[in-house]
Amino acid sequence: MAVTETVTFPQNRTCPYHPPTGYPSESRGQQSVTPVRLYTGRTVWLVTGHAEARALLVDPRLSSDRENPAFLLFARRLAETSQRRVELLGLDDPEHNVQRRMLIPSFTVKRTMALRPQIQATVDTLLDAMVEQGPPADLVNAFALPVPSMVICALLGVPYEDHEFFEAQSRKLLRGPEASDVDAARDALDEYFRVLIERKRRDPGEGLLDELIVKQLETGAVDREELVRLAEILLVAGHETTANMISLGTFTLLQHPEQLARLRAAGAESAGAAGTAGAEAGDRSSSGFGDGVSAAVEELLRFLSIADGLSRVALQDIEVGGVTVRAGDGVVLSTSVINRDEAVYPSPDELDLGRSARNHVAFGFGIHQCLGQNLARAELEIALPALFDRLPGLRLAVPAEEVPFKPGDTVQGLLELPVTW
Ligand code: HEM
Repeated sequence: MAVTETVTFPQNRTCPYHPPTGYPSESRGQQSVTPVRLYTGRTVWLVTGHAEARALLVDPRLSSDRENPAFLLFARRLAETSQRRVELLGLDDPEHNVQRRMLIPSFTVKRTMALRPQIQATVDTLLDAMVEQGPPADLVNAFALPVPSMVICALLGVPYEDHEFFEAQSRKLLRGPEASDVDAARDALDEYFRVLIERKRRDPGEGLLDELIVKQLETGAVDREELVRLAEILLVAGHETTANMISLGTFTLLQHPEQLARLRAAGAESAGAAGTAGAEAGDRSSSGFGDGVSAAVEELLRFLSIADGLSRVALQDIEVGGVTVRAGDGVVLSTSVINRDEAVYPSPDELDLGRSARNHVAFGFGIHQCLGQNLARAELEIALPALFDRLPGLRLAVPAEEVPFKPGDTVQGLLELPVTW
C-alpha cells in the first residue's frame, strides 16, 4: 500500500455528535475505502461506505482475531498491553459461534421484553432520587451510568454493590490512559470474577453467570478462565456503551429541541397506547414500544454511532470499493461515517427522529453484530422518554461547549453532563 495519505486514525470529534471532520466521507465525494495512518505509522484501510462496510462485515476473509500479530490496534495503550485472548468479540467462527450460541438465549427479544418492568423500575427509582436530591446534577453519574449498570448486574447476577469498583476498572480498560492501567484493570476484573464464580459455585444465585456455571463450567464445556473473560466482556460491554448513548443522546436532544418535542410526543402516545387493550394485543413494535419511540432510538443510534472504529485484519486479498485489500492489511470501519452515507440516508447530517434509520451499523453487522442490542434498545426506549417526562424542564447547567466528551480512540460519549431542571 503506498503511503501517500496524511489522514490519521483515530481522530477526536470536534462536536460530540458528529463524526470527526478529518475523516474521508462519501458525502464529500471521497472514496469509500481509503488508506489512513495509525499513530505507529502503519497504514491501514478506512471503510466509510455503507455498502462496502456491510459486504466486509459478513466476509470471512476479514478476521477479528486479536491474537493475530497483524491485528490492528489503534491506540498506544492497546498496542502496549500484554496481548491476550479476547473471548467472543475477538474470535472468528467456528470458535466464536460456540460462545455466541451459549449466550444468545439470554438476549432474545422475548427475554429482553421480560426485563422491561425491571428496567422501568430501575429508571423510576433513579429519577425519584434525582428529584429528591434536587438540581443540579451530573446526569452521567445520576442516571446514564447507573441504569445500564444496574440492569446488566441483574441480568448477569453480579452484585450492584460492587459497581464503583467495576465501573472504575471499565473506565481504565477502555481509556487507560496508560497501557499499565489497562493491564491492571484486566487483572483486577479477572480476580473479581474468579472470586465471584467460586462464591456462586458454593452458593448459587439467579442470573446468567449462575446459569453458565451450571450448564457450561460444571459440564466442562468452558474452563474457569474462559468464563471469567466472557463475564468481563458482558459486564463492560453491557454498561459502558448504553451509558454513553443515554448521556450523549440526552445532550443531542437538548441541542435539537424540535426533535426532542417529537420524542416527547411519541413517548406520550406510547404511554397512552400501553393502557389500551389493542396495544396489549400486539399493535406495538417488535421491541414492545410505540413505533415513534423505537424509530427515535434507531435514529439516535445511527446519528451518534458511539462505537466508532471496528477493527479487522484481512486473511486473504479482498477487492472492495475499487481497491485491493491485501492479506495482512488492517481494516477499520468508521460506523459514524458509514451511518452518514448519503446514498442510504438522505440529508445524513440531520437528526430526524421521524426517518427510518433501519440498516444502520451502530451495532455492527455480521457474526459479531451486538449481542446486547435488544437490551440496549429496551433501556434507551424506556430511559429517554421517562427522563424528559419526569424532568420536563431538563436543560444544560453549563454552556454546551463546556460539556466534556470522550476522545476518538474509545467508545464515544460524555465524561460529564451537568444538568438542571
Ligand atoms: C447502545 C449500546 C450499544 C452499542 C452501540 C453497541 C455496539 C456494539 C458493536 C458495534 C458491536 C460489534 C463489534 C465488532 O463487530 O467488532 C458490539 C458487539 C457486542 N456487544 Fe454491544 N453495543 C451496545 C450495547 C451492548 C449491551 C447492553 C451488551 C450487553 C451485554 C452488549 C454486548 C455486546 C457483545 C457481547 C458483543 C460481541 C458480540 C460478538 O462478538 O458476537 N452490547 N456491540
